[in-house]
Amino acid sequence: MISNQNNAIGIFDSGIGGLTVANAIFDLLPNEQLLYLGDTAHIPYGTKSAASIRQFCLDITHYLLQQGCKAIVVACNTASAAALESLRQTWPDIPIIGMEPAVKPAVKASKSGKIGILATAGTFDSVRYENLVERFAEGTTVLENPCLGLVEKIEAGLQAHPATINLLNKILQPMLEEEVDTFVLGCTHYPIVKEQIQSIVGPNAQIINPAPAVAKQLKKRLEKLALLRQLPFEGKHQFLLSKYNLAFENTLKRYGKVPYSLSEIDPSKVFSNLI
Ligand code: DGL
Repeated sequence: MISNQNNAIGIFDSGIGGLTVANAIFDLLPNEQLLYLGDTAHIPYGTKSAASIRQFCLDITHYLLQQGCKAIVVACNTASAAALESLRQTWPDIPIIGMEPAVKPAVKASKSGKIGILATAGTFDSVRYENLVERFAEGTTVLENPCLGLVEKIEAGLQAHPATINLLNKILQPMLEEEVDTFVLGCTHYPIVKEQIQSIVGPNAQIINPAPAVAKQLKKRLEKLALLRQLPFEGKHQFLLSKYNLAFENTLKRYGKVPYSLSEIDPSKVFSNLI
């Protein structure tokens, strides 16, 4: 195992969404160094085939490990659904943390017994999601929406735009009419519009963002493997994009509580098959 406590944690998503997870990691593990890859050349993942996403994830993980990362965080529900198993099979000695919609906590939190899951089509179509609902949501009404077009709006920096609010209304109103009282942000992009969602669903509805739980899980795994960095990292965290996106930079500035560098990476350095 290559690992060393002082090496970076590799983290990736199709774009901006993983920043919501990176943020939770900075909060919980302030000593750690992050190397983030946003696969903006292939966004959105949510409407692509599981096989394509799996290949992107294998290539990205291979690249991050080549850079010496000691652990990998798949900061994307869609990518986790398509590729987590393959990644863990390919690199059994590397801690690889994935994500899934927080169905279990939502079932626990709901008073009406009706929960709303906001995710992507790719996540909803996966066996992983199907198993999750089967295991934890018995007796609960689960309403789902693949939020078509929402990721693109967030990637374009349009979180407060009237068209985005309109789309959120279309997604959320039918759930509210069914008395859903707990909403799961099952895509890492969606916490970026949490404020907008909360103003539609009202202050009493619960909105579950799983990012802090992912950071906790990462901490647990690193602790167990004696891989937690002991001294603060004093350099710049590195953010790479397979295609430059201004909204990513703006979101990073807004979220960024740490020194960072942002650059575009030549996709041929990462991906075996370019599409
Ligand atoms: N952020 C990703 C997720 O958590 C999906 C975004 C996309 O469709 O690319 O599912």
